Amino acid sequence: MAVTHDLVVDALRPVEDPELHRSIVDLGMLRDVEIRDDGTVGILVALTIAGCPLRSEITRRVTDAVETIHGVAGVDLDFTVMTDDEREQLRKRLHGDPSSTAGQGQAHGHAEGRAIPFAEPGSKTRPLLISSGKGGVGKSSVTTNLAVALAQQGYSVGVVDADIYGYSIPRMLGTDRDPVVIDQMLVPPEQWGVRCISIGYFVPENQAVIWRGPMLHKALEQFLTDVFWDDPDFLIVDMPPGTGDIALSLSQYLPRGEVYVVTTPQPAAQKVARLSAAMAEKVNLPVRGIVENMSWFTGDDQKRYEIFGSGGGQLLADELGVPLLGQLPLVPALREGGDDGRPITAVDPDSEVSKAFHRIAEQIAVELKPKKVFSPQLKVI
Ligand SMILES: Nc1ncnc2c1ncn2[C@@H]1O[C@H](COP(=O)(O)OP(=O)(O)O)[C@@H](O)[C@H]1O
Ligand SMILES: [Mg+2]
Repeated sequence: MAVTHDLVVDALRPVEDPELHRSIVDLGMLRDVEIRDDGTVGILVALTIAGCPLRSEITRRVTDAVETIHGVAGVDLDFTVMTDDEREQLRKRLHGDPSSTAGQGQAHGHAEGRAIPFAEPGSKTRPLLISSGKGGVGKSSVTTNLAVALAQQGYSVGVVDADIYGYSIPRMLGTDRDPVVIDQMLVPPEQWGVRCISIGYFVPENQAVIWRGPMLHKALEQFLTDVFWDDPDFLIVDMPPGTGDIALSLSQYLPRGEVYVVTTPQPAAQKVARLSAAMAEKVNLPVRGIVENMSWFTGDDQKRYEIFGSGGGQLLADELGVPLLGQLPLVPALREGGDDGRPITAVDPDSEVSKAFHRIAEQIAVELKPKKVFSPQLKVI
């Protein structure tokens, strides 16, 4: 059978853009196919932006797909770049037109007329707010590894680094590139199957964020509206410590948010419990579960040493009337993974701590799944 234009297009249809996760044919990126007499196929692909960081990945995917066609002697791939108009069309198709969604999400705030998708009644996304009574308990480590564990279990996952002053998720997740901007739509970088947005992508390295009040709220709002999240199953939010303004705005932006509290095993949990309960009350969102971190360290003698005491997680869970979802041991590899952008759940999935993250992920995804179905089509008769 001779190689035809249609055969090539069909072979390219399943090829997805690595960032947008849509067929390059449907996205209008396939510009030209030329079947040459010598058996080679010339292909012209339009990239969304010049200097697209994933150009080599696209090359690999396109070449692999076309080379499998019987009779193709070689692939000659060339690139062009979309025009501003084409980018605008693409953005509208993927992310909607702000003016047409204006009004729908007014109760929950919206940026420049665009509603926050997670506040919409039909949203399938569960926002998980990872919080703690104080800093340094492992909130960001839990956010990162829980996100990777959920992604490994087949869920689509986005992470919002809402700890604006103490952002750390890009480093922990190891995302090595900035978000791509397509006509004001931010396409978040993805690593280990997790998409992520953070203020860290917008400030020069080692420079403190000095934003206050309105600027902060605007940034958070844009993280929720201008980012192409593409309806993930979970949006995990690394909350700032305490009960400040950021927590308050987030709860308004994410009215169906579920709070998960990370704590350490010190039995003097009362203070943390009070802080967590106060936070949940202030933001008017339910605490759904507790994660105890730094529970023990296993020595070379295989004995468990409870360096920070024991029982704190269970006490807090009892006090708040919610389940203790897991206890995470202290392991140097977890810290190292966080420093190098190689989360332990990603690089050592069979380790004790990775398994604990997986059990926590399973409980959240399955056992704690809200019973109530939020569907605009459902009516109570
Ligand atoms: N279970 C653990 N074992 C070893 N190191 C940990 C563990 N949990 C957190 N850490 C380390 O402790 C420090 C604080 O954790 P982090 O996740 O940044 O806390 P938070 O976001 O609550 O401030 C980090 O250096 C992190 O790598
Ligand atoms: Mg943190």
